[in-house]
Amino acid sequence: MKLRNLLLTLALGACALNTSASSDPAMDRYIDDLMSKMTLREKLGQLNLPVTGDIITGTAMSSDIAGKIKAGEVGGLFNLKGVEKIREVQRIAVEQSRLGIPLIFGMDVIHGYETVFPIPFAMSMSWDMEAIRNSARIAAVESTADGICWTFSPMVDVCREPRWGRMSEGSGEDPYLGSEICRAMVEGYQGADLASPTTMMSCIKHFALYGAPEGGRDYNTVDMSHVRMFNEYFPPYKAGADAGAGSFMTSFNTVDYIPATANRWLMTDVLRGMWGFDGFVVTDYTAISEMINHGMGDLQQVSALALNAGTDMDMVADGFLGTLEQSLNEGKVTMQAIDQACRRILEAKYKLGLFSDPYRYLDVNRAKRDIFTAEHRAEARRVATETFVLLENRDNVLPLTKQGTIALVGPLANTRANMPGTWSVAATSERYSTLLEAMQRATEGKANVLYAKGCNVCYDAELEKNSTMFGREMRDERDPQVMRDEAVAIARQADVIVAAMGEPSEMSGECSSRSQLTILDAQKDLLEALIATGKPIVLLNFSGRTTVMNWEKENIPTILNVWFGGSEAADAICDVIFGDVTPSGHLSASMPRNEGQIPVYYNHLNTGRPLQGKTFQKFQSNYLDVPNDPLYPFGYGLSYTTFDYGQLALSSPILSRNGSITATVTVTNTGNCDGAEVVQLYVRDMVGSIARPVSELKDFKRIFLKAGETQTVTFTITADKLKFYDNDLRYDCEPGDFQLMVGRNSADVQTLPFTLTN
Ligand code: BGC
Repeated sequence: MKLRNLLLTLALGACALNTSASSDPAMDRYIDDLMSKMTLREKLGQLNLPVTGDIITGTAMSSDIAGKIKAGEVGGLFNLKGVEKIREVQRIAVEQSRLGIPLIFGMDVIHGYETVFPIPFAMSMSWDMEAIRNSARIAAVESTADGICWTFSPMVDVCREPRWGRMSEGSGEDPYLGSEICRAMVEGYQGADLASPTTMMSCIKHFALYGAPEGGRDYNTVDMSHVRMFNEYFPPYKAGADAGAGSFMTSFNTVDYIPATANRWLMTDVLRGMWGFDGFVVTDYTAISEMINHGMGDLQQVSALALNAGTDMDMVADGFLGTLEQSLNEGKVTMQAIDQACRRILEAKYKLGLFSDPYRYLDVNRAKRDIFTAEHRAEARRVATETFVLLENRDNVLPLTKQGTIALVGPLANTRANMPGTWSVAATSERYSTLLEAMQRATEGKANVLYAKGCNVCYDAELEKNSTMFGREMRDERDPQVMRDEAVAIARQADVIVAAMGEPSEMSGECSSRSQLTILDAQKDLLEALIATGKPIVLLNFSGRTTVMNWEKENIPTILNVWFGGSEAADAICDVIFGDVTPSGHLSASMPRNEGQIPVYYNHLNTGRPLQGKTFQKFQSNYLDVPNDPLYPFGYGLSYTTFDYGQLALSSPILSRNGSITATVTVTNTGNCDGAEVVQLYVRDMVGSIARPVSELKDFKRIFLKAGETQTVTFTITADKLKFYDNDLRYDCEPGDFQLMVGRNSADVQTLPFTLTN
């Protein structure tokens, strides 16, 4: 037997042993007792997470879903907003179903609740784990105050594919940074005690590999080697399991040609067997019935496949409740498998404390007190300032002074609904500021702000409509030339132009793939017209992904990428552009020069014919028409101040397997203002039993330095940091030569060699 199979078999054996007894005998007894009273139908009901539509208070009693709840055919509900409604629905489950089993209430609380934090991709640019943990904690406080105890977050799909709109929901291209963020978020959501009324259960999604769809087209095929999965795409999911996440969500795509939802190797061998995950697995939305389209069989067949793979809860497809009884009768699934899934869901409810108090998260007074508080909003605003990435500031146009006349233009300048960003289900956008409002507030009595929209998102009305769904329409029916002229006219009267451009928020997110990532036609024409005025321009690029900005880099010396900054985005943008806060975001994904380079990522393999230098070389691995490197590398981000790095030093050039060495570097703030820097540590394994990446992030420190201040940054390197999965999926490090790199981004580092000995 190949070693890989042997390891998996052993792992699976361990998993099988784990299935009946948990580490909590009281919980086991409680659930044994409850399950002994449950009918098959009631057990299947626990596996059912149906779609509700909106339930209006007072009507829940008579709705179709109420009948199912009373019959014990529903395990939980999701994306229902409002504590009073939820309380009413819970009461039906508790008081009117035969066994009174409480429902679990979930929601896509992806980046905050009503206090909306920047989109997850933006949050990852902060490299600030404390802030990320805290954002999840605040999201949990607000969600649980409104009746939600389970969030479908964090989304930890590693993504090197900016054509894919859901890059916005993840943490970028790096498995290490992604893992750290995943852990921080699980800790933030779940806290130390899942049963506390202010913590909620997290759900790691989308398991697995959803971030690598072919061509960047959403829901498309994924196919990659197991070595790549384990080393480059799996680490953040594993970090979630290690951090104790209560649930996992399956992904829509295939893995090894089997849809993830029916992939037993993934859901059982890897997730439970190798990683020891003991929570429950929910499908993504209709992922079971979508397997009919994948060509896996009819609804009965695919539902049985999903259960047998180790999937426990069916979101919306009605496959488990609708067909598993028949499959049981026909011997296609076992009672043991149904019991197992049911037990896992009941365990989650037990851990959330729902059996001891089904109304634990349904205190109607908390909703008034704990949501969208001044304190939460202040933190969201502070964090948002850390996520903006200063790409260019060649003429030091930024920060702006609050004087003279500022022309604010662009389709993103005066929109409220677009500020929070995609997947903000609980947002109350009518309470959020537009950039125009925030800028008027920030400059009141000091500067004059003129505004003109200048252009629509793009000329193609159909494309704009599809990119501004969910009530975020923003099209202006005026003639494009009229709109542009108006903007140019105010620009001529101004000292500086601030152009708020890029993607509307629904141009990223689910089902928002793009084949071209350049700024859209109408906006480009407007920018050209603005450049022709000769006035200095600050380009604020709103985006939910990395975009292609060659032209902008060449033509506009000042570019701040602001992503989507959440409910407080507008004020946070003003904090940064007026210099109250120094920008400190660093890219968590490489910015491509053009779409043809995709995937372009820093931790690639060397190939047998690596390009030396930057110019074209025949018979080396490169393009005729574009350089190999990205426009802006992973880890890149400027500041209003400057940071000088001293000489990198290693405590020893020899690292023994059980020992450690330290790398130190001094960093000095040599500019005129205070600011934060992200010091990054990368490693290259020079020789391995498999080809190894040219660089891998292994550690980082975000430090804050006052103007003139120096700090020594120390990293500890142990053999553990050098481990990887080899071709037999053995996780270990291999003695030999390494390079250690420390610097301000993945392409600007100092390098020292060291050797790992046995
Ligand atoms: C998305 C998930 C989400 C689910 C429930 C799906 O379409 O892929 O990320 O959690 O819907 O809303």
